[in-house]
Amino acid sequence: MKTTQRIDKILATCGFGTRKEAKNLLHTGTVTVDGKVVTVADTQVDPNVQEIAVDGEVLNIRHHVYLMLNKPANVVSSTKDGEHQTVLDLLDKEYNHRFPGGEIHMVGRLDIDTEGLLLLTTDGSLTHRLTSPKNHISKKYFVRLKEGVSPAEAENYKEKFGAGIEVPRESSEEAFVAKPAELEWLNPEESSSAEAYLTIYEGKYHQVKRMFAAMGNEVIYLKRVAVGELQLDPNLASGAARELTAEELELLK
Ligand code: URA
Repeated sequence: MKTTQRIDKILATCGFGTRKEAKNLLHTGTVTVDGKVVTVADTQVDPNVQEIAVDGEVLNIRHHVYLMLNKPANVVSSTKDGEHQTVLDLLDKEYNHRFPGGEIHMVGRLDIDTEGLLLLTTDGSLTHRLTSPKNHISKKYFVRLKEGVSPAEAENYKEKFGAGIEVPRESSEEAFVAKPAELEWLNPEESSSAEAYLTIYEGKYHQVKRMFAAMGNEVIYLKRVAVGELQLDPNLASGAARELTAEELELLK
């Protein structure tokens, strides 16, 4: 994949005005690449590996950006919402522009009241790989239920989810048979359990809530803790985002 681009295009993409304005900026001799002044607009630069600075200030640009966000409740997974904060509103200003590889977008969605791991990236091909139903990428959720269940009932949930439970329709959303899912109760020996981890391999509308509703129960707290092999960093505060490490990114590829 080509990751070099003309320096005037990179500067324009990253908030330094139009291509013409970026060219003018280059002519002032204040732009450096790896410490050397660059004045020629069509100089090819790879922002992933080369350091671009304007007026001595190094720009934090990469071709692609990969972020994990610990989504809080009451924030919507959409780009615009008149009423609520959006997940994009939670990101630092430095992410508030296009990157050479594209625009920052969400990898899938979480309901407004769901917390936890939400990926954001500029890399559309990664998004496609992680969200395509064909790829059966796992998603693991921590669930707290309204009604505690006995050990026998807990086993029944496990079997039903493991076999693929029938989920009734919800408003305009069709009924479906969920793909086999793994349920792991937190305290299975206790007389009543209300907390579990559920791993699903698809992402239908309100899927986790509807799976438990199909068992006659209600999810009162939902938090995504992993996508594929990538786990939510337990030290990432609610509402905070950080870039993935190279090792974490490798887990998703
Ligand atoms: N399942 C749900 O019901 N809600 C979510 O936000 C994610 C999965």
